[in-house]
Amino acid sequence: MKLASNLSEQTATSRRRFLGVLAATGAGLFTAPGLLAGEKSLRSISTDDGEEALPTAPLVDSPPVLQCPTETDIAVVWAVGKPATGFVEWGTKKDQLDQVAYGEIFGQNPYNERFLQIRIRNLKPNTRYFYRTVTCSFDFVHTYAFKRGEPVYSDVFSFETPGAKKTTGTFSVINDTHNHQDTLKRLTERLALLGSDYTVWNGDLVDGFNNANTAVEAVLRPGNAAFATEKPMLFVPGNHDYRGVWARNTSLPLPAWEHPAPENRAFGRNFVVRTGPLALIGLDTGEDKPDIHPAWAGLARFEPYRTAQRDWLERALLSPAVATAPFVVAFCHIPLFSDDPKANGGDSLEGYAEFQRQAADLWGPLLSKHGVQSVITAHMHRFKYDPATSKRGWAQICGGGPNLDREVTVIHGKAEGKFMEIVVDSVSKGTELGRWKFPKRAI
Ligand SMILES: [Fe+2]
Repeated sequence: MKLASNLSEQTATSRRRFLGVLAATGAGLFTAPGLLAGEKSLRSISTDDGEEALPTAPLVDSPPVLQCPTETDIAVVWAVGKPATGFVEWGTKKDQLDQVAYGEIFGQNPYNERFLQIRIRNLKPNTRYFYRTVTCSFDFVHTYAFKRGEPVYSDVFSFETPGAKKTTGTFSVINDTHNHQDTLKRLTERLALLGSDYTVWNGDLVDGFNNANTAVEAVLRPGNAAFATEKPMLFVPGNHDYRGVWARNTSLPLPAWEHPAPENRAFGRNFVVRTGPLALIGLDTGEDKPDIHPAWAGLARFEPYRTAQRDWLERALLSPAVATAPFVVAFCHIPLFSDDPKANGGDSLEGYAEFQRQAADLWGPLLSKHGVQSVITAHMHRFKYDPATSKRGWAQICGGGPNLDREVTVIHGKAEGKFMEIVVDSVSKGTELGRWKFPKRAI
C-alpha cells in the first residue's frame, strides 16, 4: 500500500512536470489520454537491476519522438505501457491527414509491449508535413483470439524534411545526460526555447541499457518532456549506450538509419543530414577501451567498425548533401583530439579513453582535407574548446554534463549567409561559455 501511495504521488508530480514543460514552452501539442488520465495511471519504473511493470501503466507512455529524418522518410517512435499496435496518419495539410503509414514489416503491422516505431515514407525534401499517432491496445488471448482497443489519437504535429533549399540551418547538442531527470528537464526546456532544426544527442543517454523502461524514461520522455515531436532528434552513440543486458535492443527506441546504398547499410548509427547551407555528420566512436579489454569479455568489435567508418566518412564527405554544403559539422561522442600528450587514446588497458586515437588517426585527416569546420564531442563531462590549427583544420568543441551542480551545457549553431556561429551555454550557471564564428569552406 505504501508503494502504491508513493507511486501515486510520484506520478502526480511527474504529470505536473510534464504539463508544466508543455505550458512553459508553448509546445502543448501532445495529448496522451492514457498519460493524462485519472489518478490510477501509473508508470512502470526501472531499477539498475531490472524493471517492475505496474498494472495500470498508461497505454500511451511518451510523446512521439522523430528520428532518422531524410529527404524522403522519417521515423516516428513512441512508448506504450501495455501491448499495443499503432499507425501514423499524415499529410501536407493540418486538417487533411489523408495518408497512413502502417509500418508493416514483411506484411505484419507493429505489435509491441513497450515501443511503437513507424516510418513515414515517400516524402519530398524541404517540405512541411503534419502527422498524428494512433495507438490501440491489443491483447492476444491466444493465436486466434484477441481484443483490439479503441484508437487513441495524439494531437497533430508537424515537421519539415531536410534539404538544401533553405537559407538558414540550425542545430542544438546535448550529451552525457546519463538519465539524470533533473538535468533532462532543464535541457529540454532550453531545447524548446532554442527551436533548432535538429537536436543532436551526443551519447551517454544512460549509464547502461538494462531494461526497456530505462529507454522510455531516458530517451523517449526525458524530463517528462515532449522534446522531438516536431524537431527531430539525431542520436550519436556514446560508450555507455553500448552497455547493459538490454543494449542490443536499442533500435526499438533508437531506430537505425536506413541507408539505401548497399555499401552504407552496415552503418546504421552514422548519418548525414542537410539543413539549408549546413551538413551534419554523425560518427560512432564506440566503447572507450580496447576490444580486448576484460571488461567486454569478448563482446566488443569496435576497432574494425571504426576502421570501416573511415571509408563511410569519405563517401559521406563526397556525397552531394555534404559536398555542396558551405558549412559542415561532425559529431562523435569521444573526442578526436587532446592537447595532453599523455592523454589516454582508448588503446590502453588502464583507465578509459580521453580521446579516441584510432578514430582521430583515421577520420581526422579526412575531416581536415574536406574543410569540416568543427567536430563536436562529449564524454569528458567538461566543456573545452580547441581551436583549429595548421595541422588540424577543425575546431573541437566538447560539451559538459551531466550534473547540474557542475557543468551541463547546450551547444547550438546557426549557419546563415557567410558564417556559421556556434555557441556553448552553461545550463548550470545560466551563462555563455563561448561563441565562435566560422567562415564558409571552399566548395
Ligand atoms: Fe562517454
